[in-house]
Formats: sequence, structure tokens, C-alpha cells
Amino acid sequence: MTRILAVANQKGGVGKTTTVINLGASIAVHDKEVLVIDLDPQANTTSGLGHREAEDFGIHNFIAGVHQLKECTVNTEIEGLYLVPGSRHLAGTEIELASQEGREFFLARALSSSSLSKYDYVLIDCPPSLGLLTINALVAAHGVIITVQSEYYALEGLSHLMETIKRIKAHWNRSLAIFGVVLTMYDKRLKLSREVEGEADKYLGEMLFRTRIPRNVRLSEAPSYGKPVILYDAFSTGAKSYMSLAREVMAR
Ligand SMILES: Nc1ncnc2c1ncn2[C@@H]1O[C@H](COP(=O)(O)OP(=O)(O)OP(=O)(O)O)[C@@H](O)[C@H]1O
Ligand SMILES: [Mg+2]
Repeated sequence: MTRILAVANQKGGVGKTTTVINLGASIAVHDKEVLVIDLDPQANTTSGLGHREAEDFGIHNFIAGVHQLKECTVNTEIEGLYLVPGSRHLAGTEIELASQEGREFFLARALSSSSLSKYDYVLIDCPPSLGLLTINALVAAHGVIITVQSEYYALEGLSHLMETIKRIKAHWNRSLAIFGVVLTMYDKRLKLSREVEGEADKYLGEMLFRTRIPRNVRLSEAPSYGKPVILYDAFSTGAKSYMSLAREVMAR
């Protein structure tokens, strides 16, 4: 069965894109087929996987029904890891959706009329907002992975996100579940990181993945080479931590 997971948090810069790229790559090297969808107008996942933003055949045209999934899907350097590129046109898509009937369902509908059976996982990178693009991702997904940066205020925005997930469950996608919460940019030497960890543990319990993603410079360098960290520095703590997260995700 194909699992569709949206990686979301309306807070910016909390490791969503880094997680989509590196979790996707780490699952794919376990002999799985993974499709990554870049649903953010910033198109950072696209460039981080070594592709240019898609002027024509990107996710915006898939959502609009202009192109089929196959026509929008490109290979990456990792065998088994595929990408539907994003582009700045997605900002326009979000505005156009606003006036459409059933605006929350465009991505879900497009995906359900596509053949996804070849994929074990579909990971959707969301923009840093709770706007219609993120809502479309959550309506299309079976589960949400929330990335939380190990910083002060990190948990504050979480209740807002949880409310949104509850609302989407109630109205549009009954089977939506919180698949897990992952702490990113964690530094165990810092009291602050440990405090956020303690709070997250108390508040989230089982939902919190055991793997912590450390702050690791290799993770921030890899995208400028258009590579997941396992191709850039497989022995880095960043690469190892995403491998560990992949094992947890596959076991859930
Ligand atoms: N574990 C980490 N260690 C070091 N740097 C990281 C780590 N995770 C992410 N970064 C860096 O932090 C910045 C923000 O990360 P990322 O782009 O993944 O966040 P995001 O939530 O997708 O941001 P946005 O909300 O803008 O889409 C990037 O420059 C990224 O390279
Ligand atoms: Mg991002």
C-alpha cells in the first residue's frame, strides 16, 4: 500500500524540506520506491534534489489537471527516489484555488486519479503556512510528519497546527493521522534543546519519533550541491540520523 505523508509546519525554517529530501533518500536506499512532491513555491526541495524549478511540467500543472503525474515526474540521483518539481507558479495556483469549488481537494483528486501503486511512500513538502497548498496536502495525505525545531517558541505554533489537522479530519479527510513529530536541529549540549525535548516528550508522548536530527553543517551544505546528504557525506551525523528516522518511519 502506498503511504502518502505530508511534512508540515506553518513555521518557516524548521527543517521540513531537509526532512523531505533526506528522509525520502534514506527510505529509497532501503529498496523502496519514493515519490517526493514539492508543494512549496520556494521550490527548495526541487533544487535540493538537483533539479531546476519546473516552468511547465511541475506540480502546479498536475494540480490544475493539465498534466498527468507521469509527465511531471523526474528521476533523481538516488535510485528509487522520484520528484515532482515545484515552481514559483504554485503561488499563483494557491490564489486561483481560492475561488474554486472544492478547493481543498484538488491535489487529493489529482493523486487519486493517478497510478501510485509503484510507490511505497509519497512525501509532500509543504510551504510555511496553513494556506490552501498545505490544506490540499493534508486532505490528500494519510498522515502528517511535523518537524519541530529545537528552539524556544517551537512548541507554541504546534497547537495551531494540531487544531488545523483536527478541522481537516472533521471536514475533509477522516483518515488523516499525525504520523509523527520529529525534533530537528537538536543539540544535546544545549540546555534549550533538552528543555524543548522534555516539553515535546511530555506533550507528544508516542507521537514523538525517538530519532533526533542534530544540527549538522553537512545537512545545510548538501542542498547547494543538489544532493541528499547520503550522497554528499554518508558518514556525517546528519546522514546517520536521517537513516535512523527512515527506519522508524518504515516501522510505524
Ligand atoms: N539539522 C540541520 N542542521 C543544520 N542545518 C539545518 C538542519 N535542518 C535544516 N537546516 C538548515 O536550516 C535551513 C532551514 O531548513 P529547511 O529549508 O529544511 O526548513 P523548512 O522548514 O523547509 O523552511 P521553509 O519553511 O522556508 O520551507 C536551511 O538552510 C537548512 O539547510
Ligand atoms: Mg521548505
